Amino acid sequence: MSSDSPPPQAAPTGARARLAYALDYPTLEEARRGADEVAPYVGVLKVGLELFVREGPAAVRELGSLGCDVFLDLKLHDITKTVERAVASACQLGVRYLTVHCSGGPGMLEAAARRAEAEGTGLCVLGVTVLTSLDRADLEAVGVQADPADQAERLARLAKAHGLGGLVCSSTEVGRLREVVGPELVLVTPGIRPAGGDVGDQKRVGTPAEAIRQGSSLLVVGRPIRDAARPALAARNILEEITSA
Ligand code: C5P
Repeated sequence: MSSDSPPPQAAPTGARARLAYALDYPTLEEARRGADEVAPYVGVLKVGLELFVREGPAAVRELGSLGCDVFLDLKLHDITKTVERAVASACQLGVRYLTVHCSGGPGMLEAAARRAEAEGTGLCVLGVTVLTSLDRADLEAVGVQADPADQAERLARLAKAHGLGGLVCSSTEVGRLREVVGPELVLVTPGIRPAGGDVGDQKRVGTPAEAIRQGSSLLVVGRPIRDAARPALAARNILEEITSA
C-alpha cells in the first residue's frame, strides 16, 4: 500500500459489515456529510462514478478515514491490460472492493483477479453480472437473447471460473447464484428497497430481509438512505432488518 493510503483500521463486523451505502453525491463535501451521518450504521462506503469522476482518488482517501471499508464502483470494462493496470491502481488506494463487468470476458476477468491477488492488499474484485436496471427487453436490445437471471448465471459461472472474489447481482437472483457459485464468493446486491419504497430506475429489486435470506453477503443501498428525511434513521432501520433476517 502506498503512503497515500488511509491508515489501516479494524474492519467493520457483524450486520454492519453487510450494509454498503452508495455515496451517489456530486461533490466530496456532500458525500462526506452524507457518510459522516450514516457511517455508524454501515460497514462499507461505496464511491461510484458520479463522485469519482469529479473528485478522484482524494474522495477515496478521505472517505477511507471514516472507519468503513471503501467500495470503488467503477464497473470497469476495457481491454485486458488496461483493466489489469486499473486494478493495480485501485490496490494502491487501499480500497476493499472494485467492480468490473463480467461481460468484459474471460481474459479480462482473469487478469483482474490475478493482479489483485499479486498486489496483496486484500482487494476483492467483484464481477457485475446483469445490472439491476435492465430487464429482458433491454438485454434483447443489445443482442442478448436471454432472461436476465439466465444471463446472470452464465456470467457468474464465468467469473467464478476465472478467480473473481465476488459478484454483483439482483436480489431477485441472488438465491440462484448462491447455489451455483457456493458459499465462498461475496454476493453483493444493489437494487434494495425497504417494503413499499420508491423503486426509481431499478427494475429487479428486493427488500433487505429477502436479499439476506437468499444468500446476499453485502447489500448496496443508495437512494432509500440518501433521499430519506432522516438518512441515519433509514440506515439504522435497514441495519435492524439485516440483523433480524
Ligand atoms: O439508489 P440505489 O439504492 O438504487 O443505488 C444503487 C447503487 O448501486 C448505485 O450506486 C448503482 O450504481 C449501484 N449498482 C446498481 N446495479 C448494479 C450494480 C451497482 O444499481 N448491478
